[in-house]
Amino acid sequence: MLKDPSTKYRPFPAVRLPDRQWPNRTLTHAPMWCSVDLRDGNQALAIPMNVSQKLELFQLLVKCGFKEIEVGFPSASNTEFTFNRRLIEEQRVPEDVWLQVLVQAREDLIERTVESLVGAKKAIIHLYNSTSPAQRRIVFGMSREEILGIAVRGAQWVRERLSQLKGTEVRLQYSPESFSATEVEFAKEVAEAVMDVWKPTPQHKMILNLPDTVEVTTPNVYADQVEWTCRNIKNRDSLIVSLHTHNDRATGVAATELGMLAGADRVEGTLFGNGERTGNLDIVTVALNLYMQGIDPKLDFSDLNALAEVYERSTGMRIPPRHPYAGELVFTAFSGSHQDAIKKGLAEWATGRQKYWEVPYLTIDPADIGRQYREVIRVNSQSGKGGVAYLLESEYGIDLPKEMQREFGPIANEEVDRLGREVTGAELKSMFWREYIERTSPWQLQGFETESRNGVVRCRARLLREGEPVELSGEGNGPLAALVRGFSALGLPRFEIVSYREHALSAGEEAAAIAYIQIKHSDGRTHWGAGVDTNIELASVRAVLSALNRSQASK
Ligand code: KIV
Ligand code: ZN
Repeated sequence: MLKDPSTKYRPFPAVRLPDRQWPNRTLTHAPMWCSVDLRDGNQALAIPMNVSQKLELFQLLVKCGFKEIEVGFPSASNTEFTFNRRLIEEQRVPEDVWLQVLVQAREDLIERTVESLVGAKKAIIHLYNSTSPAQRRIVFGMSREEILGIAVRGAQWVRERLSQLKGTEVRLQYSPESFSATEVEFAKEVAEAVMDVWKPTPQHKMILNLPDTVEVTTPNVYADQVEWTCRNIKNRDSLIVSLHTHNDRATGVAATELGMLAGADRVEGTLFGNGERTGNLDIVTVALNLYMQGIDPKLDFSDLNALAEVYERSTGMRIPPRHPYAGELVFTAFSGSHQDAIKKGLAEWATGRQKYWEVPYLTIDPADIGRQYREVIRVNSQSGKGGVAYLLESEYGIDLPKEMQREFGPIANEEVDRLGREVTGAELKSMFWREYIERTSPWQLQGFETESRNGVVRCRARLLREGEPVELSGEGNGPLAALVRGFSALGLPRFEIVSYREHALSAGEEAAAIAYIQIKHSDGRTHWGAGVDTNIELASVRAVLSALNRSQASK
């Protein structure tokens, strides 16, 4: 990076609007929405959607409540043209939905675009040409007059062909592309020239779209540009002022919200912000931002997970885990203090005493959009033994005896400390398995049988001791007592079993039982062991061996 970026970059000039009104306004209602998923979103995909994917997404957009949908660039390719024709000929467009198509100011393209709309009930023809100084100079090498001429000729070519769309209710839309990088006075001049051709009226308005094609500055400047245009353009009441923001500085949502305050009537964007570079405006976020203020967004996102699933499947894009509202982790709390506050907030909400949603850390009720609140408990080196036990229990059904928690807690904490990070339940389980279940040295079980006569149990165990086969036999009032005697008979220092617990492991966990056993040596030392087996008797034998192995390892 440059030490002095001012040698290469410069601030974007402010709009002169000392009496700007938008900062004092609040949002009160939803704008008209237009989805550009099938056009701006689609054109930015590595593999653009095929016709059946476009159809599925179109139907989903309709289901969400979009009344204006930009379906493509019919003059750009046969696929785009055919898609438009299929929508119209197969009568897939509900009566109240406007089919919007985009076209450049070129006569042949306009001709083909109009052709693609024949038979549509409601159609928006969206004409655009770029107006910013950089586009004028670098891309087109044209003067302001020549750029204005392109817009006017385009508007005339559209007007001349409207008679081909008899029976279609047509609305016209013009975009001075790169509006936000254009001098406001020039953008107004071009837009007014187009208005002179199309002659919109308050009864038959045209859409003036104000693209933030590339975000070049802070959202307040875009709001000033929008307010300036709304206040200075002629015949404002004959216009539907529309916003079309992108997200290059990550403020597409903010720019749109401020643009709405600045007087816009309509918003274009895509689901989850898919679009060129950093994306288009994310309509879901703006709509749910309105919802969380108590404003009906007029779009239905009650099943956001299903919407996200179709979106990801048809676009091949992934919604980042922290994406507002839709991200996998948005309603997940990791921090203990957040979890505590949320628990209290949800409990308070459940009493029904509260009129308005006010649960700390949850901006809206996840249930309203078909989602669920989730807690993630993790352990770090500062977590107590309770945290370790909770995770093993809640995630794997491993219900450690209290005293064993006291033994395993510090072992786990030491390992977490060594790793220098938090660990998940799965990692804790592996630690537990390594420490207790997977110990096979010096003792390893090869086979164990018992027979019982007159209340006396006799056991025979085939073992490996440091890999060497050993046979053990003993008698007692139960299999474990017989095993302990058998070890004494082998000459091992005496030990006794002082605690024993067992339980089934949760389904899927090796469909097995787990036994926990604490042994006490004659010198007073105690050790826990654990064993897992589909046979509960074998699980407890393994637990004894685990405790013995651990005691010998720690000598
Ligand atoms: O970003 C843009 O400027 C566009 C226009 C064609 C509206 O997509
Ligand atoms: Zn765009």
